[in-house]
Amino acid sequence: MLKKLQLLLMFVLLMAPSVFAQKMIGTETDAQKDKRMEWWKDDRFGMFIHWGLYSQAARHEWVKHNEKIDNAGYQKYFDQFNPDLFDPQKWAKQAKAAGMKYAVLTTKHHEGFCLFDSKFTDYKAPNTKAKRDLVREYVNAFRAQGLKVGFYYSLLDWHHPQYTIDEIHPQSPADKSDASYAKLNKGRDMAKYRQYMRDQITELLTKYGKIDILWLDFSFPRKDGHGKGKDEWGSVELLKLIRKLQPGIIVDNRLNLEEYKDGADFETPEQVSTAELAKYRGKTWETCQTFSGSWGYYRDENTWKTHRQLLDLLITSVSNGGNLILNVGPTARGEFDYRATNALDSLAYWMHANSKSIYNCTYAPDTYKIPEGTKLTYNKAAGKLYVQLFSYPHGKLILPGYKGKIKYAQFLNDSSELLYKEINEDDLEVTLPAKKPNYEIPVIELTLQQ
Ligand code: GLC
Repeated sequence: MLKKLQLLLMFVLLMAPSVFAQKMIGTETDAQKDKRMEWWKDDRFGMFIHWGLYSQAARHEWVKHNEKIDNAGYQKYFDQFNPDLFDPQKWAKQAKAAGMKYAVLTTKHHEGFCLFDSKFTDYKAPNTKAKRDLVREYVNAFRAQGLKVGFYYSLLDWHHPQYTIDEIHPQSPADKSDASYAKLNKGRDMAKYRQYMRDQITELLTKYGKIDILWLDFSFPRKDGHGKGKDEWGSVELLKLIRKLQPGIIVDNRLNLEEYKDGADFETPEQVSTAELAKYRGKTWETCQTFSGSWGYYRDENTWKTHRQLLDLLITSVSNGGNLILNVGPTARGEFDYRATNALDSLAYWMHANSKSIYNCTYAPDTYKIPEGTKLTYNKAAGKLYVQLFSYPHGKLILPGYKGKIKYAQFLNDSSELLYKEINEDDLEVTLPAKKPNYEIPVIELTLQQ
């Protein structure tokens, strides 16, 4: 009996690694991955830029889908495209001033139009009145400002003749029957489209120098075959190619490679509430968010997030160990409109004074309780804890259980000392001025006893 049990135990121990180890596409170790991702985790804040022909319709980047427009109907946007005010230096300066450290631009969105000069299509910016490769100018401008450079590339393509019609294609059949799909897809060949993507991604990753991030978007596999996922995209081979061309690159998680441990570098919770971000603690993630609901320029969209909401997103992301990539949809003339500029300016004002509580920060260890009305961010290497004052207390703030844990307290924005005292065996009380510092969310910097 004992012998049998021993044998069983040995069998379980021997089998365990193969049962529990997740599948791998490459050979990178956890330590190597941590190193590769280091700058991105430290930087915490980036700019997304959605720009394309849809900026002219100015009513959502999905306008082609939403209004079921075919290629002929969409052609007017190609013929009209003339971004006479495009000045990526200005974009890059605005991003940098707002405290963003990296950017990701849509080189091609679902509409299929390419902002770059590709050998494999005529449907590209150089063939419009813009007459040039706009991606190259973006890359040069952002790099010149010291920002990391990323590309968004849509896996979907509602213009390419070989891309098969699926459930979200603008020309998807009303009756949704297999027969209707088959009829529409006669003569279309996804293998050819897969090759087109590989060719274009190769161009993007070989002709523009070091690319820091690749944001591929998105998968929607369906059992009935009218969706698209890893098989349709050829995701495994595509990711291998990407890693071969740019070994240091950071890739998002929308290739539908969930079954592989190394099928993605980060998760991408999209437009989620700040309350939901707590769920991602301990993972590697970046939440992508719009200023106003649409990614592409949307003239009549009026639900713009307030300065406070934007700060909340940034601080709550960091206080849960994640990144925020905030989107701007430039106008068809190539500018950030006044609403985007105001939002960026307000972030610039706050970040100028408080960015130390964002960069290189993450969530605080549980040993530091969260004082009432605040959120915490934490820089381990610097030995600092940042108390983000979401509600400004009257005269004093209690730091519960902080006795013996801190050495010094000050406002972060002006390094002005904040006096504190022990009020019982566990707690400290910080004295605050009656007048709130001139920041929507002021920050207290605590130097920790370590
Ligand atoms: C979605 C949308 C797209 C947007 C993206 C950003 O997948 O299809 O329009 O570019 O999210 O995360």
